[in-house]
Amino acid sequence: MSNKILSALFGAGLAALALSPTAMAEPQELAEMHAEMDGCEACHADGEPSEDGAYEFEQCQSCHGTLAEMDAIHQPHDGNLMCADCHAPHDMSVGEKPTCDSCHDDGRTSEALLK
Ligand code: HEC
Ligand code: HEC
Ligand code: HEC
Ligand code: HEC
Repeated sequence: MSNKILSALFGAGLAALALSPTAMAEPQELAEMHAEMDGCEACHADGEPSEDGAYEFEQCQSCHGTLAEMDAIHQPHDGNLMCADCHAPHDMSVGEKPTCDSCHDDGRTSEALLK
């Protein structure tokens, strides 16, 4: 990479920081947070996404446990869903809670199940 490109990138980075004092408070992508701990390989074999998501699902469970071992929100989905069906790692932020109404149309909520 040329020095010119490097200094442009560096300059752009500093400008972005200067313009956004709240950058640190931006919500962080779920996948990014995991990748900071263990890299893309935490979920992807050789860092490459699988065709069907099965490898990634295995990885989630190897750290977090299986759906059957989790709480009343997770248990009923054992055998029906993979983690990423609800926690889309590249589309959701840390702290963002999945909702129910993308799949169930009867107004159920996680609060109702956990109470
Ligand atoms: C917490 C686990 C996790 C981590 C860490 C992770 N990914 Fe993913 N990634 C997934 C899952 C699950 C999918 C498939 C479902 C989806 O698209 O959300 C996926 C999909 C993808 C895709 C397919 C396109 C897309 O967005 O659907 C690419 C490309 C990708 N990941 C690249 C990366 C790279 C590069 C890193 C490291 C910076 C990374 N992933 C880190 C879980 C993860
Ligand atoms: C049916 C959708 C759904 C599926 C599938 C699902 N989750 Fe969740 N998960 C949720 C919801 C909703 C919450 C928030 C519960 C609450 O309100 O406290 C949650 C909470 C969590 C939390 C706690 C996060 C926090 O806010 O403290 C973790 C960790 C988690 N899930 C991991 C997983 C893993 C790992 C899998 C796969 C083995 C999985 N989930 C599958 C819906 C799902
Ligand atoms: C290498 C171990 C590892 C893997 C693999 C992994 N996680 Fe995590 N995950 C963690 C750790 C550590 C945390 C932070 C502590 C915690 O909240 O449990 C975390 C946090 C989370 C949280 C809570 C984030 C929040 O909002 O506070 C969710 C949801 C989650 N992971 C889902 C997943 C999903 C979905 C996958 C697979 C696609 C996955 N994880 C794969 C280790 C892992
Ligand atoms: C990605 C789709 C999806 C999401 C999102 C989802 N579910 Fe489900 N849920 C299913 C599927 C599939 C089944 C199994 C088939 C069935 O029983 O309808 C199921 C079954 C259930 C069951 C057991 C059967 C029943 O209908 O009583 C409960 C309880 C449940 N889900 C609660 C929730 C709650 C609470 C949320 C939100 C936190 C949620 N689900 C989000 C797909 C989803």
